Amino acid sequence: MTTQRFLTGITTSGTPHLGNYVGSIRPAVQASLRPGVQSFYFLADYHALIKIDEPARIQRSTLEIAASWLAAGLDPERVVFYRQSDVPEIPELTWFLTCVLGKGVLNRAHAYKAAVDKNTAAGTDPDSDVTAGLFMYPVLMGADILMFNAHKVPVGRDQVQHIEMARDMANSFNHRYGEHFVPPEAVIEDFVATLPGLDGRKMSKSYDNTIPMFATRAQLKKLIGGIVTDSKAPGEPKAVEGSALFQIYQAFASTQETEALRQAYATGISWADAKQTVFERIDRELAPMRETYQALMDNPAKIEALLKTGAEKARAIATPFMGQLRHAVGLRALQTQAEVSTKTAKVALPVFKQYREADGQFYFKLQSADGRLLLQSGAFASPKVAGQTIAALQTEGVAVLNRSSVPLHMGPDTTESDIAAALQALQDAKQG
Ligand code: TRP
Repeated sequence: MTTQRFLTGITTSGTPHLGNYVGSIRPAVQASLRPGVQSFYFLADYHALIKIDEPARIQRSTLEIAASWLAAGLDPERVVFYRQSDVPEIPELTWFLTCVLGKGVLNRAHAYKAAVDKNTAAGTDPDSDVTAGLFMYPVLMGADILMFNAHKVPVGRDQVQHIEMARDMANSFNHRYGEHFVPPEAVIEDFVATLPGLDGRKMSKSYDNTIPMFATRAQLKKLIGGIVTDSKAPGEPKAVEGSALFQIYQAFASTQETEALRQAYATGISWADAKQTVFERIDRELAPMRETYQALMDNPAKIEALLKTGAEKARAIATPFMGQLRHAVGLRALQTQAEVSTKTAKVALPVFKQYREADGQFYFKLQSADGRLLLQSGAFASPKVAGQTIAALQTEGVAVLNRSSVPLHMGPDTTESDIAAALQALQDAKQG
């Protein structure tokens, strides 16, 4: 069995909270210990620039997130742990992918569409306050993934569409330039969506309802004390369904511990006692990490060095791979022999060529793979109509030849079935 490569990025835009811990940090650290798995974890600081224009916050968040992952047990010897902006091949690959991805795919990205819908609803310009960075976000993410040919990408549900797009980019690139990329698959971490925050809604920075992963013991106690409950008195039975406190406990406790609290709810534990139980349980898991975290936060140079070592490991893969990709697309040293491209070698295809003559009119022709003229158009007044005629040929086939409104002439020694075969070959290539 070949090693499965797992890769995931963490945007450096905030301070890790318990939702991040339960939903991504803890499972990722556990997964990195499995045999047969090679893990890549990185700090997505280029992505952070899309959302945040406070330099100090980016820097602070990068430090906090790195320290949190390391404190949670990520072993930088075992995994490739690096900072996105230390790998210049990633933005370079972003451009290559930009050139093979349809713009329409990006128009349909959820995050971009949500911004446009909001503007439309407000009656402003659809792209008002939308940076090109937000629009391009999925391409940068595709480059993160394809740079290391990751097989699996653990993400929250909200990111699944981005993985689909990365597959799309991989396939488009492979189709043009030969097999270079593995189309990645999403691994959905359902926990991410389910850890509730202080107010019972999903724990999320945007709701301001989070419990920081490395709050002090005293802060943690206070925050847990503030989790919403109903107003049932001590002694009254309490429902576990819909209890944020119970769900948070469950994310930390063993099955037996969870059962015990379920019983206690049924027999009327006071909210104060329930909160104390939850607090002690969470603190038990986090207290040892808290010390490591503090030590790391006090020694940023150590983290910087670790990340630099991680970047070296990442670039040991990225640099030669990027060299291969540059060659594949034709960015090559000029003294090397020009070769027949893999594309023409593999699948020689007929082509439509559109052009304008000295008479100012627009024309096109269909050439066979070996350059013979199959079909010659007459003059069109506009390139649009010429293009529509090509599109009609591609979708409706030779039937279009019989329309008197369309000026088309078959080439010398060409039959209708030659043309039909050429159109079919184009169709197949499109689907393949
Ligand atoms: N967009 C991801 C998020 O917000 C972070 C991210 C950036 C990422 N690049 C990635 C995740 C590559 C997985 C793979 O959660």
